[in-house]
Amino acid sequence: MLTLPPGAIPFSHVLSAGPLAGPAKIYAMVNQSGGAGKTTSAVNVAASAAEYGWRTLIVDGDAQCDASVACGYEPDQMEGQATLYDVLLGVANFEDTIVPALAGPYGAKGTVAIENLYIALASSELEDAEQMLATRVGREFWLRGLIESVRGQFDLIIIDCPGNLGLYVVNAIVACDEVIGCVKPGWKELRALTRIELKIEEIKRALGGVKAFLGKVLVVDVPTTRSQGAIYDDSKKSVASAYADQMLPMVRRSPRIPEAYAAQKVLRIYDRTGEVTQDYYDITKALGFKRRKK
Ligand SMILES: Nc1ncnc2c1ncn2[C@@H]1O[C@H](COP(=O)(O)OP(=O)(O)OP(=O)(O)O)[C@@H](O)[C@H]1O
Ligand SMILES: [Mg+2]
Repeated sequence: MLTLPPGAIPFSHVLSAGPLAGPAKIYAMVNQSGGAGKTTSAVNVAASAAEYGWRTLIVDGDAQCDASVACGYEPDQMEGQATLYDVLLGVANFEDTIVPALAGPYGAKGTVAIENLYIALASSELEDAEQMLATRVGREFWLRGLIESVRGQFDLIIIDCPGNLGLYVVNAIVACDEVIGCVKPGWKELRALTRIELKIEEIKRALGGVKAFLGKVLVVDVPTTRSQGAIYDDSKKSVASAYADQMLPMVRRSPRIPEAYAAQKVLRIYDRTGEVTQDYYDITKALGFKRRKK
């Protein structure tokens, strides 16, 4: 069992208080290749929406646990705390994996909970998730069932995906309303968006009742972006023209992002007035999650 900081509202209290007015909008952050800024974006859009007054859930389905870590938790060090892996094993309920996101490392002096923000925790054992899912009946619908069970408790749910298009990511696509394709600026990355679209089409053809589509494109200038200069600028323009209607504001490159991650803080708490923090507020507003009127 976790010892939450004073003032944190456990998810069990949210559940017993009853549903919110509207069912959550569900996004999946997807890209086939790793290191495209998916987790950073999932966590920081979610944190901005939470600040604007929207009750928000991040679903961490990645064995790297990066989103869980960014929200203050090291799931593999927390004996007895349920994770998505336990749900997959059938020994925990999904709601037991949902904990308040923290504004610093769990257990550290002064760490408080972030109002309105929750995370469904991952664990490194999720490495086995693909094989475990593969043999199930309804294997593509596992995550949808879990998420639908808490949809009424949230305004926004963001599923952070591992960097592939495997069975867990298929589950995330099936569970979401819209996919956000997260890419680095570059020619190769532009092709990655086409692959995501083809994958969504394939899923829709094979399975009934899937409503997801590539709703938005988010370009994040991560440090591993290969080319700078003319080709790089051209490729940014070509992503922008090919996906004009779907483009979210771009995220600039900033050392604040790895620093915030190392401090286990979301950006708006680590660097309240930073430019890249503002980028994420702009994206959140572009998704329709503006400051909620009281
Ligand atoms: N705008 C940015 N500026 C500088 N560094 C960034 C930026 N966005 C992300 N990073 C760094 O780039 C790395 C990859 O980012 P992130 O973990 O968000 O990508 P990811 O797509 O979730 O990766 P994976 O597929 O491995 O889960 C991280 O070290 C992160 O701190
Ligand atoms: Mg990630």
